[in-house]
Amino acid sequence: MSQALWTQLKYFFPEKVCFGEPLKQYTSFGIGGPADCLITVETVAELRKVLAVMNDYQQTFFLLGKGTNVLISDRGIRGVVIRLAGEFTQAEVKGNELIAGAACPISLLLRLSIQHTLSGLEFAIGLPGSLGGAVYMNAGSKDVGIGSLVKEIHLVCPDGSYEIRSGENLHFSYRHSSLKPGEIITRIILKLREEGRKEELLSKMKEGYAHRVSHQPLREKSAGCIFKNPPGGSAGELIDLAGLKGFSIGDAQVSTIHANFFINQHQASCDQILRLMNLAQKKVHQFCGLALEPEVLIWGQSDDD
Ligand code: EPU
Repeated sequence: MSQALWTQLKYFFPEKVCFGEPLKQYTSFGIGGPADCLITVETVAELRKVLAVMNDYQQTFFLLGKGTNVLISDRGIRGVVIRLAGEFTQAEVKGNELIAGAACPISLLLRLSIQHTLSGLEFAIGLPGSLGGAVYMNAGSKDVGIGSLVKEIHLVCPDGSYEIRSGENLHFSYRHSSLKPGEIITRIILKLREEGRKEELLSKMKEGYAHRVSHQPLREKSAGCIFKNPPGGSAGELIDLAGLKGFSIGDAQVSTIHANFFINQHQASCDQILRLMNLAQKKVHQFCGLALEPEVLIWGQSDDD
């Protein structure tokens, strides 16, 4: 990024901008070098102002949610990373609708849905991350994606314009929505169901959480499932059958609990995780001819980043 843009950002947003901030503290993997510039924005107005300055310099950016589905290069990001905080972390309930900012943690939404006896979100128990990130990639379980609950989203487009889009127009499919890079979700309205009793909902969620904790390494540093499931199969099962469960490269390990989770055991580098991913893709391909596609977003690998 240019010196002139640095100066402008520092001038207009002195409290919001950090230069050379290590990103590993913002990711669930605990991996990631410094960003040339990390901007924390707290309101839609602030976000649009930041985009206006960046557009003047034709500067692109990365959008960081809770950092639970990204693998960031050890060299970091040669550019701008935008982080949503403040009003983007708030949520409220109106009738059977949950209205939340894009940076709102899924765990807060689950608490609200229990408090108000709203069902529909049970499948999301144990999902890390923020609602915006989850909607962007239609995160969820094997069978249900969060997109099925989306009534509408509010977003800021790369040119700074504000738009409201209905759930239907987001064309959700497995781990995919039609949102484009650079479109920033700011607010989401989820439509839930008023049904059942609070105790039933709570016990269903507790059961789901217990299942997840026993099948997934939720307490380790990871990015959740690292590969998408290939049609009709399970990436975890295939990596397991290819003999890689527990295999390590340096501090990067294929989890012994679920083979589609790659763990940063201590000080794993991005490079070690990438080597492990390449190995898993190669072994699974040799074993059954299927190509595994990363679910995790990989940032900062090209010289332009
Ligand atoms: N399996 C193995 N070995 C393993 C892991 C799994 O043999 O190491 C087998 C299991 O025994 C089971 C099958 O593979 O027969 C499927 O496993 P699981 O039920 O754990 O589901 P998954 O397809 O691996 C998907 C999502 C998870 C979500 C779970 C539960 C993807 C890529 N993964 O996992 O989502 O939590 O279903 O609903 O779609 C994520 O996206 O980050 C994620 C963790």
